[in-house]
Amino acid sequence: MVDGARIIEYFRGKSILITGSTGFLGKILVEKILRVQPDVNKIYLLVRGIDAKQRVDEEVIGTELFGLLREKHGEEGFQQLVEEKVVALAGDIIYQNLGLETSMLEDLAKCIDVIVNIAATTNFYERYDVSLDVNVMGVKHLCEFAKQCARLKMLMHVSTAYVSGDREGLILEKPINLGESLRQGTYLDVDAELSLVKEAKKELQLNAGNEDDDASRTERKAMKELGIKRARHFGWSNTYVFTKAMGEMILGQLRGDMPVVIIRPSIITSVQADPLPGWMQGTRTIDTLIIGYAKQNLSCFLGDLSMVVDVIPGDMVVNAMMAAMAAHSEEKGVQAVYHCTSSLSNPATYSMLYEAGRRHFYENPRVGENGKVIPTKEMYFFTTITRLHLYMILAYKLPLEILHLVNLLLCGLFSRLYNNMNRKYKFVMLLVDIYGPFAFLKGCYDDMNLERLRLTMKMNTLEDQMFNFDPRTIHWEEYFYRIHIPGVLKYLCK
Ligand SMILES: NC(=O)c1ccc[n+]([C@@H]2O[C@H](COP(=O)([O-])OP(=O)(O)OC[C@H]3O[C@@H](n4cnc5c(N)ncnc54)[C@H](OP(=O)(O)O)[C@@H]3O)[C@@H](O)[C@H]2O)c1
Repeated sequence: MVDGARIIEYFRGKSILITGSTGFLGKILVEKILRVQPDVNKIYLLVRGIDAKQRVDEEVIGTELFGLLREKHGEEGFQQLVEEKVVALAGDIIYQNLGLETSMLEDLAKCIDVIVNIAATTNFYERYDVSLDVNVMGVKHLCEFAKQCARLKMLMHVSTAYVSGDREGLILEKPINLGESLRQGTYLDVDAELSLVKEAKKELQLNAGNEDDDASRTERKAMKELGIKRARHFGWSNTYVFTKAMGEMILGQLRGDMPVVIIRPSIITSVQADPLPGWMQGTRTIDTLIIGYAKQNLSCFLGDLSMVVDVIPGDMVVNAMMAAMAAHSEEKGVQAVYHCTSSLSNPATYSMLYEAGRRHFYENPRVGENGKVIPTKEMYFFTTITRLHLYMILAYKLPLEILHLVNLLLCGLFSRLYNNMNRKYKFVMLLVDIYGPFAFLKGCYDDMNLERLRLTMKMNTLEDQMFNFDPRTIHWEEYFYRIHIPGVLKYLCK
């Protein structure tokens, strides 16, 4: 049984190791722990680069997200709190020792109570080797380290709801077993994938020419393509979700009897309530719609307005994470999976987002450099990928082919123009290929486990309300209109 007061108390005196704190979600977690429980023992932030302390000061603590905490403690008190509680560690989860000195690792192993792995490479079209290093081997290294932590109470791993691929229907909060694949008749062997990458890189290096730049470009392209190819071979649409699924597998395999909690959020959107409504970092796929609409440089979008877009505000994800930590601490052998999603309990649709955008821009018209109001135009939606392909062929591919012919007849007079346009066309088609399937996901995420956790929170105390993670309390149109869209414009379109 958890409630707000118990969650707050849980963090008292704890030493917590967090990865991914310079990212969007990580910052929200660090701020919340410090705000609700200033008597936390230490928060260790594993950050890449030798300038870890500076990165934490500038990219985490120094951001506007910490404004409320600053206000609460006053500048001096805030600095003192940060100095006492926050420790920056220069490290990298791709290494077995997390990139830390042995002595530091040993010291940490003696004191860490909770490990929260938020770090990931979230690029859908990341190099396969990089994705495997961070999203799979990173999990393995943290898991191995966690086993050495004498007083560890919990390892929390942030995954994604989209490890389910493009399955339809109700998707349950079930762990992914080793070898499990989304394509029938295939067995996903993580070690074999690691060997495959090693071999592919060796071959690329053998065949590399003398120019370093060319070789690294060729390797980068080949590694990106290999990621997508392997993902699709096993039934996932991109390298990111595929490697996140493998990360979960590895965790399941190595966890032993450690209490492990896997949090699977859907699309994480701006902070809804505290500490700073609308705050966000990094452009999500749905935000390109808002940005394109704001700048009026996007006349069409891929998506079906009637479809559900599973979104969840960042502060709700963090509240759920903190509740789950308190709930499962020291539960030997437990492996709990939580969908932090909204599609089942309170679905939002693309049309709610679009209408909120229209409302916002009609009420807050943009003014161009010439001082004139920029009229808000309607956006055209391609409701299937096939329709978009057809449009691209007619509007761009055919004229390109004609240009190609003319160019041949005129002995390469338009070669530059043709090559340039062809490259752009290919790039757009690549984006459609990588991000397109994401716009048409029909899965509905069961969040019964989270519901069980919610049921123990009565929400009748201030403490409980501080940890709200019930998407049913969100009025999506109002949230998009009043919080998220202004947030996107403020923090992403600076
Ligand atoms: N954002 C979403 O909509 C969403 C949805 C579902 C699930 N998730 C999951 O939520 C988590 C956080 O997402 P986010 O949006 O906050 O991501 P983000 O903003 O891209 O942040 C990623 C973080 O991981 C760190 N990182 C990457 N590689 C690392 C390495 N080798 N060693 C140590 N740290 C490393 C990054 O550090 P640097 O600053 O050094 O790059 C950064 O702090 C991820 O696990 C993601 O899969 C996100």
